[in-house]
Amino acid sequence: MGWKLIKAARAIGSFILEGRSLRTGGHGKVKGSKVRQILVTGGAGFIGSHLVDRLLWRGDRVTILDNFNEFYDPSVKWDNIQTHVQHPKFHMERGDIRNIYDMESVFSKNEFDVVVHLAAMAGVRPSLKDPAFYIDVNVLGTQRVLDQIAKCRHKPLLVFGSSSSVYGARPDEMFSETDSIDRPLSPYAASKAASEAIAFAAHHTTGLQVVALRFFTVFGPRQRPDLAIHKFCDLIYNGKPIEVYGDGTSKRDYTFIKDIVAGVEKATDLKEPGFEIINLGRSEPVVLSYVIECLENALGKKAIIEYKPPQVGDVPNTFANIDKARKLLNYAPSTSIKSGIDEFVQWYLARKAKQKAAERV
Ligand SMILES: NC(=O)c1ccc[n+]([C@@H]2O[C@H](COP(=O)([O-])OP(=O)(O)OC[C@H]3O[C@@H](n4cnc5c(N)ncnc54)[C@H](O)[C@@H]3O)[C@@H](O)[C@H]2O)c1
Repeated sequence: MGWKLIKAARAIGSFILEGRSLRTGGHGKVKGSKVRQILVTGGAGFIGSHLVDRLLWRGDRVTILDNFNEFYDPSVKWDNIQTHVQHPKFHMERGDIRNIYDMESVFSKNEFDVVVHLAAMAGVRPSLKDPAFYIDVNVLGTQRVLDQIAKCRHKPLLVFGSSSSVYGARPDEMFSETDSIDRPLSPYAASKAASEAIAFAAHHTTGLQVVALRFFTVFGPRQRPDLAIHKFCDLIYNGKPIEVYGDGTSKRDYTFIKDIVAGVEKATDLKEPGFEIINLGRSEPVVLSYVIECLENALGKKAIIEYKPPQVGDVPNTFANIDKARKLLNYAPSTSIKSGIDEFVQWYLARKAKQKAAERV
């Protein structure tokens, strides 16, 4: 049934709007440089599809492996890659990172220079409902990726999408890569910490080169519908109440997708990094009530807020120390929460308008 839905969504693919591309025009390939072969697992998702935009613009050959699961509407993912599928340097494999045959099929056809591993079951709260599934996809799945890389004649660099959630509940101060991560508060957070650990083991035993990037609450066009900014936007737009867990003073280091993608791209360029863990955040946490205010202003509508007790698994604050990212990746996040939310809301409203137009036909 899922596949039928997906096919239908593809057939009428234009009814859901394409997210605003991060492309700035022109072609990014450096003259004379070798065309890189890059695998992006989870390449149809929110972060993955933006990264693919960037890599194709740069001139890389990109393969994605994605199982288009139903964590959220898969037609959104097809829409994310709508422009990619026509690109001559883009190739898509539909498969599961846990499935050895799917993985062997992808790796037997290509000699990758870089593997960016983003495929995962994302989300803290949903992980509480099915911990074993989260561990299966995120940890076993990562091990399958590591196993394939270990077999390669020329081992590609692995860039892994980890998460700020590994830091657990912390005082209101900056999180540094050297901090202990032995108290994750959710199965999702534990799965990311475990994935970093098995990646280190692979580095130690096989010499695999690894960069684990800890993303801090990523937002922007195409954001997953389960994440707060997207969810709240939808509810405010539809005049429905939003549930705020706690008193609205929880703080997050929201990071705009364009800044995250710039950091991931720079990580793919690292030569012989060994094993590095690097925070990618904005390093300017804001309180939830400010995010709601920005959404209200961008939408021109007031939110109806229902306060609820804090949720198990949620951390009270996140705050990235990005000194290492600045140093190793020349990373310089530049998008404020306000302008990022404005851009997100423009994308959201354009998508709504297109959906409504399609419904009228
Ligand atoms: N979005 C954030 O704020 C955030 C923060 C920290 C870390 N991350 C991590 O970044 C990565 C990307 O997150 P996202 O927000 O783009 O999520 P997403 O759900 O939009 O993207 C993940 C993609 O992986 C695919 N996938 C899931 N299980 C798979 C499997 N078994 N085999 C193949 N493909 C599979 C999904 O279909 C999806 O397209 C994830 O690893 C996530 O844990 C995201």
